[in-house]
Amino acid sequence: MTFELKERDAAGRLCRFTTKHGTVTTPNLLPVINPNKMIIPPKEMKERFGIDILITNSYIIYKNPELKNQALESGVHALIDFDGSIMTDSGTFQNYVYGDVHLDPVEIVQFQRDIGSDIGTILDVFGTPGQTKEESVQGVEETIERAKKSIPHKGEMLLACPVQGSVYPELREYCAKQLSALSADFFPIGGVVPLMENQRYSDLVRCILAAKQGLDPSKPVHLFGAGHPLIFSLAVALGCDFFDSSAYAKYANDGRMIFQWGTEKFDDLPELPCSCPVCSKYSKEELKELDSKERTLQIALHNLYVSFMELKLIRVAITEGWLWDLVEQRAAANPFLSEALRVLHEPGHLQWLELHEPTSKKTAVFYTGPQTMYRPMLYRYHQRLFTRYEPLFENTVVFPEGTKPYSMFYSKEMRDILKYKNINLVVRSTLGPVPFELDEMYPLAQSVFPRSVDQETCEKASQLMERFLRRTKELVWDDRGSVSSEEPLKHPMDFDRRRISAVADMQFGLRASEALFSGTLHIVKSKQTGKIRNVICDESHVVSMRAEDGLFTLKIDGGLRLHKRMKYPLLRVVVLDDAVPFIKEGKSLFAKFVSECDPDLRPFDECLIVDNQDTFLGVGRTVLTRDEMLSFQHGVAVKTRDSVK
Ligand code: GUN
Ligand code: ZN
Repeated sequence: MTFELKERDAAGRLCRFTTKHGTVTTPNLLPVINPNKMIIPPKEMKERFGIDILITNSYIIYKNPELKNQALESGVHALIDFDGSIMTDSGTFQNYVYGDVHLDPVEIVQFQRDIGSDIGTILDVFGTPGQTKEESVQGVEETIERAKKSIPHKGEMLLACPVQGSVYPELREYCAKQLSALSADFFPIGGVVPLMENQRYSDLVRCILAAKQGLDPSKPVHLFGAGHPLIFSLAVALGCDFFDSSAYAKYANDGRMIFQWGTEKFDDLPELPCSCPVCSKYSKEELKELDSKERTLQIALHNLYVSFMELKLIRVAITEGWLWDLVEQRAAANPFLSEALRVLHEPGHLQWLELHEPTSKKTAVFYTGPQTMYRPMLYRYHQRLFTRYEPLFENTVVFPEGTKPYSMFYSKEMRDILKYKNINLVVRSTLGPVPFELDEMYPLAQSVFPRSVDQETCEKASQLMERFLRRTKELVWDDRGSVSSEEPLKHPMDFDRRRISAVADMQFGLRASEALFSGTLHIVKSKQTGKIRNVICDESHVVSMRAEDGLFTLKIDGGLRLHKRMKYPLLRVVVLDDAVPFIKEGKSLFAKFVSECDPDLRPFDECLIVDNQDTFLGVGRTVLTRDEMLSFQHGVAVKTRDSVK
């Protein structure tokens, strides 16, 4: 098996997952195939939806003598006539629903192995939401025990070990940690079907977050029994890679159509609000005239089209950096989902999300409502404003919100003030205080908020402003009156220098600016835009400022300076000796060659590449978090930008 991260956004990831039967891109959906009644044969699913992976149930095959013999003789791929990857489940869910499953946990794993399943599942103990903690502990311990007993029998099959623990986050995390310590390959989050059926999305979010915090980040995570596209984007943003859907068939049997925003009864719809191939071919009336079996089939197909469309959208959103926007849009469609989004605002959860949040994105932060202020990206900005930014002067002039970038909008005022007084200039913006010198830095210039925002956002922004002003004195600026009566300053502040220092500290940590910029400075600006492009210090090019996000790209000489002045492990990614020659050639650093990493580095951060003696080798841009670098066996950890020759 290989599992390799290619793109990322929020705590979600787009990965390539390879089994013996091929490669699939995650996030993805495994349609559930019932080997007894295949309403849409797998081959047709492959033709229509391009599926490369599906899930079927080994217990159903096992207890039917005919299917069992056929599967043992010619394998599960031949049985259902599908040559892609096949995951099998174990009978746990049937036991939860019907309660009459008597199976030996090891035997059903051996059976899955013997029929050639690509990913088999242990017979875990389904933890229900109504359980007491004691009951859940028992179920979790039994699940872990069964995982241990099953692993020696997996052979070449990948083994899925579901995380149980009912609605108790600490149990979920414990179960995830215990299972991660075993050599399991795949981690479903189990026992969540009743939560989804009852729209208990807040509890679902708590279960996912707790499980993810305990799981090995380099393994695929599957949300067991999740088949409604409404929750896909949120689950992906929290780090789920796979879903499985029997919903497409179950809902179709009840005459219900799945949409991205929820479910509608076919009979109640005045027309079909969709243009999938089914809804393009048939009008509502035409579909109604079909015999009921054919109509059910067509609705099942529609349900799958909509589900796969949402996954395509999610994969695009990850690559383009707007997954949170999509999550917030979906949450707006359902009150229970929008309530669940609030669970993310709890400080512990925001902290975990911030670890995974990329430093910069291709797209701006779009305001959708009070939840936007709690995006991990803004949480990070607010945190860093109070830990990595120091106001230079005693007094501050506060400006009202204006057009971005503020230093351009207020350029005349700024010139007039700074001529006479060394003073901090800050905007009371809708997303909190923005010092002028940070105004081009992601996500400040790259955020779109309406002029008037909701009460909660206003209050949060005011609180942040108050906190900011506690560090300096606010000076009321009355049309230059209090300022211009003074003599012009002999040495007014160089605003460009102030900008590069403040951005460097926000990006690399407090005092990074001293390391980078002490010496004779020459700031090169773009002739076209007037924006800072390159910073030359003592005749060497130390950093470039990117036009798109106002953040720095490190040059070798900048890396050398940071390496000299910032102590280990700050900004470092440490490589194993074997990889040193590759770095010297400028090749990317693969995760399996990383031995340590600064825990404060975030995805897409500029970093220093060093050997195990802390010898500086080069500069690059991270792709993974520290924990991911230390656990992934495949894929790039750092894109090397330049190396010491
Ligand atoms: N299908 C839906 N939920 C579950 C679960 O918790 N365990 C297993 N094995 N299958 C499931
Ligand atoms: Zn449709």
